[in-house]
Amino acid sequence: TGAQEGAHSKRGFWSSRLAFILAATGSAVGLGNIWKFPYITGENGGGAFVLVYLICIAVVGIPIMMAEVLIGRRGGHSPVNSLRQITQRDKLNPAWKWVGAIGVLAGFLILSFYSVIGGWALSYVGTSAAGQFSGQTADAVGGIFSGLLSDPMTLLSWHTLFMALVMVVVARGVSSGLERATSILMPGLFVLLLIMVGYAMTSGHFGEAVSFLFQPDFSKLTTSGVLVALGHAFFTLSLGMAVMMAYGSYLPKNVSIAKASVTVSVMDTGVALLAGLAIFPIVFANGMEPGAGPGLIFQTLPLAFGQMPMGTLFGTLFFVLLVFAAWTSGISLLEPLVEWLEEQKGMNRTVSTLIAGLVCWVLGIASILSLNLWSDVAPLGMFAMFEGKTIFDLLDYLTANILLPLGGLLVAVLVGWFMSKQALQNELSLSEGGFNLWYNTLKFITPVAVLVVFLYNLS
Ligand code: PHE
Ligand code: NA
Repeated sequence: TGAQEGAHSKRGFWSSRLAFILAATGSAVGLGNIWKFPYITGENGGGAFVLVYLICIAVVGIPIMMAEVLIGRRGGHSPVNSLRQITQRDKLNPAWKWVGAIGVLAGFLILSFYSVIGGWALSYVGTSAAGQFSGQTADAVGGIFSGLLSDPMTLLSWHTLFMALVMVVVARGVSSGLERATSILMPGLFVLLLIMVGYAMTSGHFGEAVSFLFQPDFSKLTTSGVLVALGHAFFTLSLGMAVMMAYGSYLPKNVSIAKASVTVSVMDTGVALLAGLAIFPIVFANGMEPGAGPGLIFQTLPLAFGQMPMGTLFGTLFFVLLVFAAWTSGISLLEPLVEWLEEQKGMNRTVSTLIAGLVCWVLGIASILSLNLWSDVAPLGMFAMFEGKTIFDLLDYLTANILLPLGGLLVAVLVGWFMSKQALQNELSLSEGGFNLWYNTLKFITPVAVLVVFLYNLS
């Protein structure tokens, strides 16, 4: 392990187990939890979808997160080089390093639209702080949102600001300042969500929301809903694009990969469920449509902030924290692309960040336009599966539901079927029962689950 320790000491370890958990949680908890989870749950009929999503987290998400962190720690380098290191050491086909390439591509595509939604959140900080939500009706709040979507220049300015925020941090190298900020702001987000849930309890429709979220009605579940739930398990835990490999490479040897992965996954899931419990009572109390789509939180939460005591303060704080959560995730989306440009093209960090950021920014413009001027453009509309999907919808669909699960599937196959079992045991140092549970799940259940869901959706 001499060479490996050398590599580690040059790059530095996370200061502690906590630091890894903070960074991984910073990547995981983001728009996926607060923006995406509630709206896809609404679109897919609630309880049964939530149940499938939770099963996917347990059976697919957590085992793959452990596998990714393990590859990162064992490889000790950036994802592509960690994969190369591992394939060389275990004499495997070098083509496995392409798993890293899928990650680079997925990160780039996701960030392009993620930044546009991050821009919505930024704009809502201002709207909220100006007191514009206070005392508004559902219609008025809906009007503020549709006004934003119909205005490409305003969307572009916020998208630009969000990308700039991400680029500044990535250009400087992931800083310890961010780590410290995460340790304060993440708990802050959690507390604020709890306050929102508390407020939602007073709306008189809390019970309805609880049964919507937790009482499975399987007649509402479709095969495409199952794919969306699976895809979201990858998206929300930042899996399938080598982010957790990158962070795992900084994890000290004496830290339990299993405990760290479970902790991150539980926190991520907790934030998503709290967001659901905060939003759906408001949806039902105001006779709104659960399947309203991507605008759901931007049309419901402001309504609640507009009615609750100190709503302007809470609302502003909430959107600030949402921006922060999106920001830490955005950084982890840009990082692989920048690292790849540095390593493969020999560019320095500033130049790589500028190029990578600029390309994401340009692609983001297509997403912005598909919210207004191009809202009727469905580039793959000739396929039944993609009917009516705008560029924005397609980027979201193809990354979350295809690229990420594909990346994760390859990780599961590499670790479960090709790496030496002894090496895995050394790396995880679990009890025999715990190890076998993880190993057999990853080897058999995870790949079969992903493949079956894929095939059902092709047919
Ligand atoms: N997990 C992030 C979220 O839920 C999004 C993300 C996906 C970040 C993939 C990194 C990699 O918002
Ligand atoms: Na998430």
